[in-house]
Amino acid sequence: MRGAVRETSVPPGSLFLPVFVDPSVTEPAPLSSMPGQFRWSPEGLGPIAERATRAGIGGLILFGRPAAKDAEGSGAWDPQGSVQRALRSLRGKGDLILATDVCLCAYTTSGHCGYWKDHHLENDRSVEAIARIAVSHAEAGADWVAPSAMLDGQVRHIRSALDARGFTDTAILAYAAKFASAFYGPFREAEDSAPSEGDRKGYQMDPANAREALHEMRLDAEEGADILMVKPAMTSLDILARARTEFAHPLAAYHVSGEYAMLKAAAARGWLDEATAVAETLTALRRAGAGLILTYYALEAVESHWV
Ligand code: PBG
Repeated sequence: MRGAVRETSVPPGSLFLPVFVDPSVTEPAPLSSMPGQFRWSPEGLGPIAERATRAGIGGLILFGRPAAKDAEGSGAWDPQGSVQRALRSLRGKGDLILATDVCLCAYTTSGHCGYWKDHHLENDRSVEAIARIAVSHAEAGADWVAPSAMLDGQVRHIRSALDARGFTDTAILAYAAKFASAFYGPFREAEDSAPSEGDRKGYQMDPANAREALHEMRLDAEEGADILMVKPAMTSLDILARARTEFAHPLAAYHVSGEYAMLKAAAARGWLDEATAVAETLTALRRAGAGLILTYYALEAVESHWV
C-alpha cells in the first residue's frame, strides 16, 4: 500500500558522484574526514567509472588539484592538468555524463575562488580565468561545466566563451545559490582549498537569505545556465521548493561533504541507521524539488539498494 501511493522516488540516474582527482597520487588515497571517498590519480578513474556505469547513476563531477599552486591558478586550465587528463582517459567509456567543477580555489595560492587582492575578490578579472578553465574542460571532453565560484557574470562569460569556440552543446550546471557554509569543511581538506586569508562571505551567500538565493538563481538562468543548483542541500529545502515553482529549469541539489561526513560519523557510532537515514535524506531532496542530486553517497546508495 505504501509503495502504491508513494509520491517520490530517487532514480539512480538522478544521482551524480563527486570525485577528487589528484596528480600526486598513484593509488586511491583515502580521505580521513570523508570515509569511503578517495583522491584518485587522473588516469585511475576507470574502476569508479565502471561501477558508476553498472549502478546506472547519472554521471561524475570531477574536482581537480594542480601539481603546484600559483597566484594565477594556471594549473586550472593546463591541458595536462588533472581534470583534463581524467576527462581524456574517461571520454567515450560508458554512458556517464562527465561534469567538471570550474573554480580557482584549489589552484590559487590564496585559496580563494577568484583573484584575491587587498582583502577582496577581483570579480571581473577572475571571471575571465573562470571562462578559460571551462573552455579547457570542454576541449578535454567535459559534457557539463559547473562554475562554483559565485562570481557575478560567470555563467554569461562561460556561455559566450564556449559558444565562440564551437562548444555549443556543452551545458552549464550553475552553482546558482551557494551559501557560505560550515558544511564544506571536509571538502576543503580533500582539496586543500581553504582560503589563506579571510573567508568566502564576500561572494558566497548569507544562509539567512532566501530572496537573494532566488535572485541569484534568476540571474544565472538569464545568463544561460542549463541547470540551477542549490548548495548545501539539507539546509536549503525551502530554496529548492520555491525554485521549483519559479523556474522551468532542471534543479540540482549538492549534498555536500559535511552533510556526508555527519551521516558517516553518526552511522559509525551506531547512532543512526545509515541506510534509512540516507534514503530519507535523498528522498527529501527530491520531494523538495531537486531533479538531480550530487552526493558522495551516489554509488553506495544504489549498490546497497538504499534507494
Ligand atoms: C569550490 C567548491 C567547494 C565545494 C564545491 N566546489 C568548496 C567551497 O566553496 O569552499 C564544496 C563541496 C563539498 O563540500 O562537498 N568552490
